[in-house]
Amino acid sequence: MSIRPSLKPRELMSPTPDLHGVWKAKIITLFPGAFPGVLGESLTGKALQQGLWQLETLDLRQYGIGKHRNVDDTPAGGGAGMVLRADVLGPAIEAAMAYTTPRWPLIYLSPRGRRMDQAMMRDLARADGVTLICGRFEGVDERVLQHYGVQEVSLGDFVMTGGEIAAQALIDATVRLLPGVLGNQASTEEESFSAGLLEHPQYTRPAEWQGRPIPEVLMSGHHGRIADWRRQTAEEITRARRPDLWAAYRDETGTE
Ligand SMILES: C[S@@+](CC[C@H](N)C(=O)[O-])C[C@H]1O[C@@H](n2cnc3c(N)ncnc32)[C@H](O)[C@@H]1O
Repeated sequence: MSIRPSLKPRELMSPTPDLHGVWKAKIITLFPGAFPGVLGESLTGKALQQGLWQLETLDLRQYGIGKHRNVDDTPAGGGAGMVLRADVLGPAIEAAMAYTTPRWPLIYLSPRGRRMDQAMMRDLARADGVTLICGRFEGVDERVLQHYGVQEVSLGDFVMTGGEIAAQALIDATVRLLPGVLGNQASTEEESFSAGLLEHPQYTRPAEWQGRPIPEVLMSGHHGRIADWRRQTAEEITRARRPDLWAAYRDETGTE
């Protein structure tokens, strides 16, 4: 290893320099090493390398207090665990939100939050970027959420040890909606939730497996019949599995 002088600014030497107008996720976390994680693989990873989206982590430990860079303290009123301090998270949020645009949501991943759905991901993909706060321990001091008007968003009705996995789920689902990330843009138009329905069943070769043939209509080459079959099976699956989605779809389309 050697150190050489260079005329290039540091930014341009990094694998993904800060690109103007490119959607960016800023993540406040105690575990920056968890990123990009699975986001560095496959289509999201390739898109990250190509600069179609950007990722920046802010190590919360750097904002810690004192020699030991403490980030947490015991809950006021007693009880188990520790709580991330407002006077540690506050400066990290200020740093993350500096130079962001008005279209830049600030989100705390939290089991108390609104559950993620495709409509939320579509809105996030239309923003200029997002700042995500990953909690740990018992969560964060409530005052920081109130002070910065932070939105709380949940991955689902269960409790994980930290917000990092939820953050990666949110970023993955958002990034694939950005222009150019998926090779075939049509696939986001036809998949689950895009028309208010779950997706129809999918098949591929071999034509018969374990005595189970691919439905004959899919082998017919008749595009009209195939589209009808897909719509019909999507409706059946949605009606059986998700009465909530089915009711909304019926209201919207007038389907019986
Ligand atoms: C052990 S949890 C804290 C749970 C909190 N005491 C509660 O009961 O709501 C630690 C962190 O994991 C993250 N987390 C846990 N479950 C989550 C979920 N379902 N969705 C999003 N983030 C979650 C949050 O960032 C949270 O601050």
